[in-house]
Amino acid sequence: MFKKYEKVLKEDYEKWYRENKDYRKQAAADPRRLRFHLMPETGWLNDPNGLCQFEGVYHIYYQYTPFEPTGELKLWGHYMTKDFIHYENDGPVLFPDTDMDAHGAYSGSAFVEDGRIHFFYTGNLKYFDRDDYDYIHEGRGSNTISFTSKNGHDFTTKELLMTTKDYPKDMTQHVRDPKVFKHGSKYYMILGARDQNDQGMALLYQSENLKVWDYVNRITTKEKFGYMWECPDLFEIENQMFLIFCPQGVEKQGIDFENVHQNAVMKLSYDFDTNEYEIEDIKLLDRGFDFYAPQTFEDEKGRRILIGWMGIPDADYTNPTIENGWQHALTLPRQLSVKNGRLIQKPLDELQHLREGNPTVNTFDSEQKIVFGDVVYEANVEYNKCSSMNMTLREGITLTYEGKILTLDLGKYGAGRTTRKVRVESLNHLQIFADTSSVEIFVNHGEETFTSRIYNLEGKLSVEGQCEGTITVYPLKSFEMKGGYDE
Ligand code: FRU
Repeated sequence: MFKKYEKVLKEDYEKWYRENKDYRKQAAADPRRLRFHLMPETGWLNDPNGLCQFEGVYHIYYQYTPFEPTGELKLWGHYMTKDFIHYENDGPVLFPDTDMDAHGAYSGSAFVEDGRIHFFYTGNLKYFDRDDYDYIHEGRGSNTISFTSKNGHDFTTKELLMTTKDYPKDMTQHVRDPKVFKHGSKYYMILGARDQNDQGMALLYQSENLKVWDYVNRITTKEKFGYMWECPDLFEIENQMFLIFCPQGVEKQGIDFENVHQNAVMKLSYDFDTNEYEIEDIKLLDRGFDFYAPQTFEDEKGRRILIGWMGIPDADYTNPTIENGWQHALTLPRQLSVKNGRLIQKPLDELQHLREGNPTVNTFDSEQKIVFGDVVYEANVEYNKCSSMNMTLREGITLTYEGKILTLDLGKYGAGRTTRKVRVESLNHLQIFADTSSVEIFVNHGEETFTSRIYNLEGKLSVEGQCEGTITVYPLKSFEMKGGYDE
């Protein structure tokens, strides 16, 4: 019914939804469905979009293909929550239904101002009038589009703000993923881009009214760092500027940048009066196999919250959930802060309300100790000392610390994923969230993180090695979801 490069109208989707109850049943019955992560009800999910809090409600939109699990057509799905435990599934709300966005309502952001949410996204177009297009320099349209909402569900008419010919002349046709913020009295938009020399960069625009946008600058490295930067997000936290972005085409460097595409955080200083900037360093933001296109927003309490896509494009590893018609999820929400000049990610405080029943508390030393027998848990490990250790997170999946290198090894349970590593000078603390088919590991209170899908449902959490400390394991309950198939 739906073809890859044709518009999707809301009525067509609604008809499809009515006719596909069995598809929803099949996806819902998959034992690998996650208990406390946002997933597509059916089909495919990628980037989080339009993250914001408006009048107390958190709005989480995402790139969504309800129809099949390989992600051909891009709509925006919508979840709402007040507490990150109880959610409402509002289904798809933004459709590629106009001539501006007919081949995908691609990623974008939200900005709350004047009692409204202002949305900005990329309308993707592919032209088929010639067969020699490379879809990099020719054949593509990348429109920056805006609309507003007073409730996160009903939208004003889409307005075209910029089109491919409005971007700087030395760009290719890969310009997308607008993120809007305010600095002083001016509005800024940052966009991901690939220039004609195949150098990745972020373009900065300025506006007085959120409608007319003027190009002011580009942020990039002196030496090329990848050919394309997707999903840039520039923000200040505790008086330090950071640019989160997803460079494509960066070479692996030892144990760094091992994934096919990267998620990275740049520490920089930026002078908005002179538009001069200095890059201080660039690091991987997350060390796992499945982390991409993260987006941040500031909530009504002033917290800077990050949610990422727990997946990655073009990887050579897979997700067996495809058998049951769905694929990918969002990460847990994380609160960002700065410590010793570096960006720290911690699970949001609200997630403590997932803890259910009594925790199991064990002290450990060099003997192996099995401390928990289920696959869904939160484990907090406090080390008094640790020169080496070996933890089994569940049957066949390990986390080891040896020679100051912390290694996540998925053994034969990674569906193609193998090992990922990080150097840690001194291992003091681990916080691990294990869901049915995912794991998120926060090292030393969020100095490093590993995010990955994992595919084995046999429990057995144990710890051993030249280390001493205490491990506290909390059984976790599931999210509560209203709307969608569960209703
Ligand atoms: C990142 C990305 C974005 C794009 C969207 C399309 O994963 O490729 O650059 O807007 O996904 O789904």
